[in-house]
Amino acid sequence: MRQPKILIVGAGVVGGTAALFAAVALPGAEIVIVDIERVRADAQALDLAHATAFWGHDRVRAGEFADARGADIVVITAGVGVKPGQTRLDLVQTNARIACSVVDQVAPLAPDAIYVIATNPCDPLTAVVRARLGCEPGRVISTGTSLDTARLRALLSQRLGVVPSAIHAYVLGEHGESALIHWSGATVAGMPLDTYLQRAGKELGPQSRALLLRSVHEAARQIKEGKDATQYGIASAIGRICQAIVHNSHLILSVGVVQPEVEGVPDVCVSLPMVIDATGAHLVAYPELDAVEREALRQSASVVKEVAVGMTA
Ligand code: LAC
Repeated sequence: MRQPKILIVGAGVVGGTAALFAAVALPGAEIVIVDIERVRADAQALDLAHATAFWGHDRVRAGEFADARGADIVVITAGVGVKPGQTRLDLVQTNARIACSVVDQVAPLAPDAIYVIATNPCDPLTAVVRARLGCEPGRVISTGTSLDTARLRALLSQRLGVVPSAIHAYVLGEHGESALIHWSGATVAGMPLDTYLQRAGKELGPQSRALLLRSVHEAARQIKEGKDATQYGIASAIGRICQAIVHNSHLILSVGVVQPEVEGVPDVCVSLPMVIDATGAHLVAYPELDAVEREALRQSASVVKEVAVGMTA
């Protein structure tokens, strides 16, 4: 992809920070920020012009939907956020309307774009956007549990005293309350997790594992107790996905695309470890799950499916 063009829809903290990470990760990319409030997009672009001057990038600007022409990647961060007492699923109708209006304006101008959906609830919204576009499922990517997986690895890294990159443990399913940890497939330093724990003389019993899952589920709420929105984690997920698409790098992240079937649930978007390349995200190898994990994934897929059906009905 030469001089890729990335359109970021939504100039809030997530859209703005995603623009910064994308600019740092992709020095040659043209990045356009669009928002329903032009003054906010202008302000983010101005602030970012100063930031990116330090990083050798000078192609972030504010724009309108007309500037979507020829975009390679469209990132959707626009929408209402989760308020105290709400779950991500409560936002569904409003944010589905916003996402569809974005697609209607952008698709004719950027017919080959890959979409990255970060607005919540990102999994059912990905299904809605994909249905609206009628395109290959792999071209509409939910940031999904890539963020939950990063949160898990950060926690495990502290707990085990090794860098996150040595820990291969994925969070799968819905980006939300029903997400599950693929413990049976987790490895550390090339060893199954249990072998590593035994040899390292460490313990991670069922209670600790349950607590880790709860910490992953609660992370966003915990962050929002101290600041208005989660920002760096989700923006990094977006930046890495954009980088993997532009570099055709075959990065593996747990992200969501609409699958024909997941654990008996048809036509549903939940996160599984996917290969990300220049054509989008692809499930190359379905993970090997134990019976408990399969049931948890089935339940998670059912939750997303129910919401998605309600949205398109
Ligand atoms: C979070 C939001 C993006 O989990 O859903 O941080």
